[in-house]
Amino acid sequence: MNPSIQLSQFFPSPEDIPSEHRLETPIHQRAYVVNGQLATWSGDMKRVLSPICVRATDGSVSQVEIGSYPVMGVAESDSILEAAGQAYDSGRGEWPTMPVSKRIECMQEFVRQMAAQRDLVVKLLMWEIGKSLADSRKEFDRTVEYIQATIVALKAQDNENSRFTVVEGTIGQVRRTPLGVVLCMGPYNYPLNETFCTLIPALLMGNTVVLKPPQYGTLLFWPLLEAFRTAFPKGVVNTIYAPGELVVPRMLASGKVNVLALIGSSRVADHLKKQHPKSHRLRAVLGLDAKNAAIVLPDADLDVAVKECVQGALSFNGQRCTALKMLIVHQSIVAEFIRRFTEEVRKLKVGMPWEAGVNITPLPGPHRTAYMTEAITEAVDKGAVVVNANGGEHCATLFYPAVVYPVREGMRLFREEQFGPVVPVMTFDDVKEALDYVMTSDHGQQVSIFGTDPDEIGALVDPLVNQVCRVNINCQCQRGPDVFPFAGRKDSAEGTLSVADALRAFSIRSMVALKETEKSKQLLNAIVRDHSSNFINTGFIL
Ligand code: G3H
Repeated sequence: MNPSIQLSQFFPSPEDIPSEHRLETPIHQRAYVVNGQLATWSGDMKRVLSPICVRATDGSVSQVEIGSYPVMGVAESDSILEAAGQAYDSGRGEWPTMPVSKRIECMQEFVRQMAAQRDLVVKLLMWEIGKSLADSRKEFDRTVEYIQATIVALKAQDNENSRFTVVEGTIGQVRRTPLGVVLCMGPYNYPLNETFCTLIPALLMGNTVVLKPPQYGTLLFWPLLEAFRTAFPKGVVNTIYAPGELVVPRMLASGKVNVLALIGSSRVADHLKKQHPKSHRLRAVLGLDAKNAAIVLPDADLDVAVKECVQGALSFNGQRCTALKMLIVHQSIVAEFIRRFTEEVRKLKVGMPWEAGVNITPLPGPHRTAYMTEAITEAVDKGAVVVNANGGEHCATLFYPAVVYPVREGMRLFREEQFGPVVPVMTFDDVKEALDYVMTSDHGQQVSIFGTDPDEIGALVDPLVNQVCRVNINCQCQRGPDVFPFAGRKDSAEGTLSVADALRAFSIRSMVALKETEKSKQLLNAIVRDHSSNFINTGFIL
């Protein structure tokens, strides 16, 4: 029996928080952006409790209150949606008709202002979602890089289309055009990055946006509100803070949302899509549930497999859509795999987000530690064992990673997406059993295979690529590099979100066509020469 670790000791007393990482005063955000104004909310506010707790002198711990944000209602959501609709103005608005080069200038201005807010946004990422300082910085910087890469991709796309094509006596020019109003909702685990992975391409393609930040990870958008307001024409970016179940179905039911961009659960996505009165008019760009598996073959290099599986399962406490959420290990090596795996888990550093090298940080709230505990208890009741020392111990929002083995059909951990620091392990004798797990799953995002036999890996890849959208060989599942397609099958996604694919997701091809006659050519030449159209032009964006 291992002695219990005192998880409460990892929470600081208020005076132990390093001064450079403190949030000096709570942020009571009453501002929101609507129709080019920074409006002030005077109604109810929602308290924001940090995942980070502080320890009192009597040893008790409590979550730190870091601020509050508005709790708006349907009247506000109606007017915010109206503002986005007016800015789009059925495609006649300043933004959807603006030359691409000018939209890029606006975006560059936004990035300039955003970069100036890096320190505060990073600090809020740490305090609002408990992400480590290193990963919070990475999230911010990766997002800025994503914006720049998207601009490069847009220039390439637009330049490619800056010409006429003549086919069978018809002159055509084809460009990508916006879709309308985009409702943009990101997740709490990557609140900045994943929200911007839809927001930025949506804007660059000429759509107008209603942005609803995630429940955890709201205040970190506050330092960016002024940039949203000033970098883009009025009404192009609008922000809403309201209970999702109250306002989001209503926005969709109005028929005024053209694109639903949601990184969340398939249950919510299905419900929302059904609200639209003309479902064929709604485009959905969705990143949803996932339960990525790692298949560890008998000849796998265990040093590599263990290292990648620990990172894959437990970085940011397993709170990644791409996390490895089921390890399927060959029977012949499972004992050695578990021995090495739990040894590596033991080395993970538990602590507060600002601590150097920290791996395990607090979860968003005690409801998450309660969920992990219930799932483990259920598995243990059905015959599984927590095989690592201290696995599953918890205190307030801190949860020590638990490795649970053997996990079988019928346990919640077998199929449910745990989205936290619990690692289910199961075994297989015949590789068909591992394959069956993936085939019969409701999820279809990615899989990892660990092995060295080219024939066996080759034979596994062929069916797996038809079940998921990325097969990782001897490495963990992950989204990046962001230029690669990020997609999923079944309940895991709708649409593809790479840098270039996202530009396509938020636009549709439209074209002008003329009969190939002298008069047509003269007309086109005059339009191009006199810059009479932003669509019909042959300009090159450098
Ligand atoms: O939560 C889902 C993220 O898109 C995963 O990104 O694989 O880079 O952690 P990541």
